Amino acid sequence: MTCKSARTPQNYGEVAPHEVKGKVNYMSEIKFYSGEQVPLEMHKVRMVQRVYLLPVEERAQRIQIAGYNTFLLQNKDIFLDMLTDSGVNAMSENQYASMLQADDSYAGSETYYRLEAVLKDMFGMEYFLPAHQGRACEHILARLLVKPDSVAVMNYHFTTSKAHIYAMGGTVEEIIIDEGLHINSDLPFKGNMDISKLEEAIARLGKEKISFIRIEAGTNLIGGQPVSMENMRQASKICRRAGIPLVFDASLLSDNLYFIKVREAEYKDTDVIEITREIGSLMDVIYFSARKLGAARGGGILTSDRGMFLQMREMIPLYEGFLTYGGMSVREMEAMSIGLRESLDMDIINQTPIFVEVLCNELIKKGIPVVTPPGGLGCHVDARQFCSHLSQDEYPAGALAAALYLAAGVRGMERGTLSEQRNPDGTEAVSKMELVRLAFPKRVFTLSQVKYVADRLTWLYENRSLIGGLEFEDEPKVLRFFFGRLKPKGNWPNALIRKFREDFGESL
Ligand code: F0G
Repeated sequence: MTCKSARTPQNYGEVAPHEVKGKVNYMSEIKFYSGEQVPLEMHKVRMVQRVYLLPVEERAQRIQIAGYNTFLLQNKDIFLDMLTDSGVNAMSENQYASMLQADDSYAGSETYYRLEAVLKDMFGMEYFLPAHQGRACEHILARLLVKPDSVAVMNYHFTTSKAHIYAMGGTVEEIIIDEGLHINSDLPFKGNMDISKLEEAIARLGKEKISFIRIEAGTNLIGGQPVSMENMRQASKICRRAGIPLVFDASLLSDNLYFIKVREAEYKDTDVIEITREIGSLMDVIYFSARKLGAARGGGILTSDRGMFLQMREMIPLYEGFLTYGGMSVREMEAMSIGLRESLDMDIINQTPIFVEVLCNELIKKGIPVVTPPGGLGCHVDARQFCSHLSQDEYPAGALAAALYLAAGVRGMERGTLSEQRNPDGTEAVSKMELVRLAFPKRVFTLSQVKYVADRLTWLYENRSLIGGLEFEDEPKVLRFFFGRLKPKGNWPNALIRKFREDFGESL
């Protein structure tokens, strides 16, 4: 976790105390006498935010006002916000401290050079370009690489990555291994690309028609499932031989790093920084949302290809801001430098995957269908099985997310057909999975809160026949899940409230 550049901050976050003693105390090494596996936090909470749980009748009003879309709820009406980790991870004291040392300047800020040094050290790449968030990087990359009618081939798409490729006239082809789309499996790396499908796609489409190959670490839309180093190595070899750029979306890298270390035997004793550098050596372009990786707010693109760098560099001042801030606040950039280095610390990056596993296991015990093996980012409930009485054009995952808010004041995110864009002919692009994601912002929730979520979901599962479908009242054309408004088919929310009162009495 050392950064050799003279530009890095000297006074904080440099070396974790456990490393000074020459012994790394991974949380996983601490045993309980009882034998119970408890996700023991290797941090203490020193600043907190009050949260409130509204009575169920008020929750019903709020979700109605929000058009049964959890994106449109207001934070004040939410008890546990498991919508996303994006921009809402807990920051460390070192991150906050660093913000006070931010060097504010339109051009040539020291803060920028510190961030650049950290990133180059982590990934071993030559050039860094700042951008205000992950999708801004996707916009720049789509402008650089996507030609009309070209195809971007990838393990799996993310909503914004796909939208930018389509906006430039390209399309997306997914070559995830078949098992990646099975809800239940014991495969450790369900996010892997199918290498034979990659070879087949290159042979079929040809180099000219492929805009780029994209690997998304920790496949967001299919359960936060990681990609193995072995798979990246194979993909890289094929892309280099074919002369097609390999682009790596590192937004969910910290969970993926954890999984490489604990699930890929070859890397058991490899330092996380070495794993990160090896990934860097395999890719032509790396981009990330620093709302996730680095636990701040921003983003950036790295490459060692001077030609691509020069073309992208022209776009940064046009779309983002001057080259030494790219639309970001210098305070966020400073926090990002520290957060990025903290994402090389196993005690920090193991928090999300271990908490995800705890919630998944609690739900599995009750027979509730979740994506397995547990991945990163969050626990993913399979709404297709949960609400097997609903068809996909009734948006089962959207309905379940709305029902969970009603039952618990917990905000999850629909990751299913609602998150897809309709086909050009207006028909539904039915999603391969119907998931409700219960995200774990890093180091935000406690074990009792996790137990609460499991308890309310259990109640909801026992009463799942009461959950009805949703239909659009107001449907935006692009990224409709963000601000589309829906209504329930029939008055099922009322039936759910009545049952809640029967079973929970006066409880909130
Ligand atoms: N790529 C991946 C894999 C992501 O998960 C995200 C964001 C982005 C790109 C875009 O980054 O939001 O900074 O523009 N995912 C968030 C989420 C929105 O909630 O999963 P951004």
